[in-house]
Order: sequence, then C-alpha cells, then structure tokens
Amino acid sequence: MGDDWKSGGVLRIQQKCCTSAGKEGQDEVFGGQPGDAIYPKDENGKIIYHETDLCATWEAMEACKDAGLAKSIGVSNFNRRQLEMILNKPGLKYKPVSNQVECHPYFTQPKLLEYCRQHDIVIVGYSPLGTSRDETWVNVSSPPLLKDPVLNAIGKKYNKTAAQVALRFSIQRGVVVIPKSFNPQRIRENFQIFDFCLTEKEMKEIEALNKNVRYVELLMWRDHPEYPFSDEY
Ligand code: A2P
Repeated sequence: MGDDWKSGGVLRIQQKCCTSAGKEGQDEVFGGQPGDAIYPKDENGKIIYHETDLCATWEAMEACKDAGLAKSIGVSNFNRRQLEMILNKPGLKYKPVSNQVECHPYFTQPKLLEYCRQHDIVIVGYSPLGTSRDETWVNVSSPPLLKDPVLNAIGKKYNKTAAQVALRFSIQRGVVVIPKSFNPQRIRENFQIFDFCLTEKEMKEIEALNKNVRYVELLMWRDHPEYPFSDEY
C-alpha cells in the first residue's frame, strides 16, 4: 500500500489482525505507524511520532468497512475538535459510531457526552471502575473510585458493590462500559447490573462526584500535535 503512511497503516494492521484472528477479524483495530515497534523510539528514548493525518486514517477505516473487514468503525480519545474534524470532513462516508474515552463517576464527561449524544455517537467508557491504579500509567493523585463513600452507601441499599453501582450509573446514562477483571467472580459481578435501577436523585448524587480529573492522562504523548486532552473536552 503506497499511501500506507498517510492512513497510519490502518489497512495493513487490519489485514494483519484478520489473518491472525480468523475470518471474524477483531473488535478493535488501532491505527499506528508502519513498522514492527508499537511505539518506536529514537536513540534518546523519545517516542517517534508519525504525522498521521486523522482524516486520511478515517478514510482508510471507511475502506475497511467497505471491504467487509469491519462491521462498524469508531474512534478513541477524540476530543470535540477532532470529532468535528471527522464529521465535517468533505466526502465523509461513515460517521464514527463510537468514541471510546475514559468515563466513570469521577470523570463523567458531561460536555463530550452531550456532544456525542447530539451526533448519535456512543460513548464507550474505559476505566469505568477507576483503573487498576498501576502507577506506571495511572494518575493516582485522583482517589480510588471504588472506595467512594457515596457509591458504597448506595450499593448497600441495593445489596450491590460500589463497582456495580459505578457500572450501573454509566449504563443508565447511556455510556457503554468495558470493565476489566482477571477474577472470574468479579467478572460475573460486573454483569449483575441489570436487576436494579438508580433513582434520579441517586444519579444526581453520583454525577456530583465528578472531579474532572483523569486517571489516564497519556502524558507521554502530550507533545504530540493531536494530543487530545489539552482542550476542555
Ligand atoms: P481484578 O482484575 O483483580 O478484578 P477498570 O475496568 O476501570 O480498568 O478497572 C480494572 C480494575 O478494577 C482491575 O484492577 C480489577 O482488578 C478491578 N476490578 C474489576 N472488577 C471489579 C469489581 N467488581 N470490584 C472491585 N474491583 C474490580
């Protein structure tokens, strides 16, 4: 693919995934730059950025959909400006169906959520339980979500855990959640959120927990021209 570099190698990566994952391909494909290293670095250990044109990458993703390699295509960590850039792109063929971003009671994303709602883009919330608090990539200055007294008190009322309340809160406001656990019991627990309903008052109480501080700041990429988290949302 001669123009591979322009599209961030999307088709090349997609083809690789489809070969290794079988006919169905993979749910998520990340656009990256050509080469074997995921994060290639220079001799000083600085990540070498690829001047990826997000619109060209999006066009390559549209081509993946047209080629039957993807059922739906979406984006991740896009801020409003970047979403607008795609939505206003001349000749846009498919809108992103989703924007996967950090979202949970301590980082509720009210403005981005509203913008996405208006444009029929589903927010998929990563770190819905407040992450594993691995200091190598998590901003641990924000307190542990699952220790929150409000989440725990509401959980007690419903005989649910703080994790289940946090997940229920997200799905009740239309946010898809992708909690992670290595523990079979907790994986089961994280599914048991469809047999109770938070009241409007409880939803408001949980919304008020928003600290507007990210656990996942991706600071190693903060000097990238498309670093998304410098904008308000
Ligand atoms: P573990 O794998 O030991 O269950 P997030 O989805 O926000 O990234 O959070 C992932 C972290 O939350 C992991 O450390 C995971 O640990 C933990 N976790 C997942 N489910 C639960 C749960 N139901 N209760 C408490 N902690 C959970």
